[in-house]
Amino acid sequence: TSLRGLADLLRSGKISEETRRERLLGLMAGECGRLTRFLTNVLDFGKIEQNAKVYELKETALGPLVRDVAELVREGHPDAGLELEVVAPESPVTVRADADAVRQALLNLVDNALKYSPGRKEVTVDLAAGPDAVVITVKDNGMGIAPGDRDKIFEPFFRSSQAVARAPSGVGLGLKVVKHIMDSHDGRVTVESEPGKGSAFGLVFPRARVEKETREPPFSST
Ligand SMILES: Nc1ncnc2c1ncn2[C@@H]1O[C@H](COP(=O)(O)OP(=O)(O)OP(=O)(O)O)[C@@H](O)[C@H]1O
Ligand SMILES: [Mg+2]
Repeated sequence: TSLRGLADLLRSGKISEETRRERLLGLMAGECGRLTRFLTNVLDFGKIEQNAKVYELKETALGPLVRDVAELVREGHPDAGLELEVVAPESPVTVRADADAVRQALLNLVDNALKYSPGRKEVTVDLAAGPDAVVITVKDNGMGIAPGDRDKIFEPFFRSSQAVARAPSGVGLGLKVVKHIMDSHDGRVTVESEPGKGSAFGLVFPRARVEKETREPPFSST
C-alpha cells in the first residue's frame, strides 16, 4: 500500500461506502506510522553513529504507553488477521525512561512481530513488573530466528535471507536502535526464538536505583 495511491483512491470519489472509506483511512494511518518509524530509525542511527543521540529520562508510566502503541498498530491494520493482545497489571508501572524512545523501541518490536509472521498474526505485548526489573515482552507466532542469526540481528543493516524474502522493503536498523535505547536505560534486550514457531523479544528496565539505594543499609558488607 502506498500513501499516494490510497490518497488518490479516496479523492477519486469512487469509494462511496463509509466502512470502506474508514478502512482506507486506517491503512493510510498505518502507512504514516511505518514511514515515521522508518525515518526516526534512520535519523537516530545517524545520531548514534555520531555519539549524538540524547535520551531524556523521566518517570514514565508504561501501562498507558503500551496500550497507546497497541491502539496505533491496530488502527493501522484494519484488515482481519491480526490479533494484538495487551497484558498489563491494573496498578501503575513506572520506570525512569525516555517515553518517545521506549515507544519507538516497542513499535520496532511490534512491527517485526507482524512483518515476520506469515498468515494469521497473533501478537502479545506483555508488561510485567518484578522487584528488580520491569519487562515488556513482545511475542509472536511467526517464522522465528535461526540460531546462527541470533547474534547478528542487532547489527545495523543485517537482515536474514528469510526476512528479505518475506519483507523486501526492510532496512535492518530497527533492532540496532532498540538495543541502543535499552543500553541507554541501563537495560537490555532479550531474545527467545524457535524457528518455525515464533519469537519473543523482551525490553528489560532495571527498577529505580535511587529507591533501592535508600532502602539498603549504607555500609552493606561485600
Ligand atoms: N520477530 C521476528 N521474527 C523473526 N525474525 C526477526 C524478528 N525480529 C527481527 N528478526 C530478524 O532480525 C533482522 C533485523 O531486524 P530489524 O528490525 O533490525 O530490521 P528489519 O526488520 O529487517 O528492517 P527495519 O529496519 O525496517 O526494522 C530481521 O531482518 C529479521 O531477520
Ligand atoms: Mg524491523
